[in-house]
Amino acid sequence: MAGWANKWRDHGGVVFIDLRDRSGIVQIVFSPEVDADIHRAAHRIRNEFVIQVEGEVRKRPEGTENPSIPTGQIEVVAEKLTVLNECRPLPFVIEDETEASESLRYRHRYLDLRRPVIQRNFIVRHRAVKAFREYLDSRGFLEIETPVLTKSTPEGARDYLVPSRTNPGHFFALPQSPQIFKQILMISGMERYYQIVKCFRDEDLRADRQPEFTQVDLEMSFVKKEDIMGLVEDMIKKVFKDTNGVELAEPFQRLTYDDAMQRYGSDKPDLRFGLELKDVGDIVKESSFRVFLDTLSRGGIVKGINAKGLAGYSRKELDDLTKEVQGYGAKGLAWIKVRDGFESPIAKFFGEQTLRSLAQRLEAGEGDLLLFVADKEDVANDCLARLRNEMGRRLGLVSDGVYRFAWITDFPLFEWNDEERRYEAMHHPFTAPDEEDLDKFFAEDAEGTDSLREIRAQAYDIVLNGCEIGGGSIRIHKQDVQARMFQLLNISPEEARAKFGFLLDALQYGAPPHGGIALGLDRLVMILAGARSIRDVIAFPKTQKAVCPLSNAPSEVDARQLKELYIKLDIEE
Ligand code: AMO
Ligand code: AMP
Repeated sequence: MAGWANKWRDHGGVVFIDLRDRSGIVQIVFSPEVDADIHRAAHRIRNEFVIQVEGEVRKRPEGTENPSIPTGQIEVVAEKLTVLNECRPLPFVIEDETEASESLRYRHRYLDLRRPVIQRNFIVRHRAVKAFREYLDSRGFLEIETPVLTKSTPEGARDYLVPSRTNPGHFFALPQSPQIFKQILMISGMERYYQIVKCFRDEDLRADRQPEFTQVDLEMSFVKKEDIMGLVEDMIKKVFKDTNGVELAEPFQRLTYDDAMQRYGSDKPDLRFGLELKDVGDIVKESSFRVFLDTLSRGGIVKGINAKGLAGYSRKELDDLTKEVQGYGAKGLAWIKVRDGFESPIAKFFGEQTLRSLAQRLEAGEGDLLLFVADKEDVANDCLARLRNEMGRRLGLVSDGVYRFAWITDFPLFEWNDEERRYEAMHHPFTAPDEEDLDKFFAEDAEGTDSLREIRAQAYDIVLNGCEIGGGSIRIHKQDVQARMFQLLNISPEEARAKFGFLLDALQYGAPPHGGIALGLDRLVMILAGARSIRDVIAFPKTQKAVCPLSNAPSEVDARQLKELYIKLDIEE
């Protein structure tokens, strides 16, 4: 056997070493009675030395078994030992639970990756990828690669750019997704395409966001959205079964975007628990609480949730919770304890009947804590959605090993960008409008008006335990619809041509109806593996500041390289 020396113990003259490799550990015994030289050599082994051992497998003596590991009934009595390599003193101990900082772990990622918890994540990832490939192959999909050096794609994040030496002043963009190429492959008659593919987005990073990440990307011709949703559901069931042995029996829940926003304040609700948001605008308008009345009169909303059983929260706990919700962007958090009547600093603004109506709307009983946010609709929804997740955690309602999927459908086609004061495509500008809303889509004078908000898209997201694990749509395959889309987005024909001309041309040569989806592989594997961050399922991840501490990328380059690329730096200190 060969592997790494994981743990070293000397018990009354006998040396025990746990030998570790990817498959686990096994106990090796070095006894002076078997071989005095080996026993002496074993004394010189340190943690993470690479060793090779020959010996006899035997049952452990009675009372020394370790039932917590698969090899706990046996040990190997060493008869031959070779030290294949030594190891310097370690910056941190190789074990599942570690106190080592992320920056230290990532600088020595090769050591970090030796930790069994992390290795298991890559076994899960491998199995998942294999299951995806098997499934898609069995359904007639072709795996086709698309360029990495390409042009901006329409996902709307910031691009990573690569200067072209042979075309001075010209840049490639790394793809944010293969979106345009996969549509062109449909126009090329490939019918069913997939690719497990790296995508690049220069955006603010979080636990579930990396600048380069992997999509399971697919596209199909001659389909409706039901076909894609059905196929993906079937595929995910296989992936869970093959990877984790988990049988997902139930059909995935479906929610329209409007329902999701109304009930959970989010288009990626965690459905492992209830704690639904309730609009109470109609009730609190009977009160004299200025904060609520002013919000309502300005067109805002007042919504609340019932934190079941938390009426015992102290003033300090409530103040801290308020600060947390203010951190999400709320102006404040109003609370009412249901405890021998109603207890709240704002109770005086409400009549007894109004308080009782509030309690009824929120299905509150003795011992409950009601929490309210009043604000513009999107702010109130977002803050309460985050508060809901927080209270779900505090109430112990989010359990590992439970998988609640949801399809979110009927997304709006357009989204208002308040900063830039214009409508944008909510998914991307190639997403087809719902056929029932085509009259609104083509209505004269629709440009820039509120009627655009009501047009639904043939788009769908798939959500798992509160995490968006994928999104897709049926695409526009008719040139006139695509031209109208750009018009409504205020993108001039010249701009559309400069950005996406090659797709617009292709659409005029017999484009079949088509649609697809991309799943975030890292996010899905993170949940499958029970990891907390996608960094734990990516071999060489980047930090919050989008750097790789192992390779030190990105780094400075030679003046000569810059000159070849016709680039002059202009950096303000
Ligand atoms: P979208 O932009 O929704 O769709 O991306 C699809 C899925 O990719 C994952 N994802 C990410 N994962 C980790 N880090 C990131 N920075 C990151 N950004 C996105 C998410 C997301 O749901 N071309 C379309 C798909 C289509 O229409 O077919 C697209 O890229 O899980
Ligand atoms: P004030 O009148 O500002 O002292 O606020 C009284 C209570 O209402 C405090 O608990 C505030 O946190 C809360 N509050 C203030 N603004 C809002 C708001 N927009 N939504 C919900 N509660 C609020």
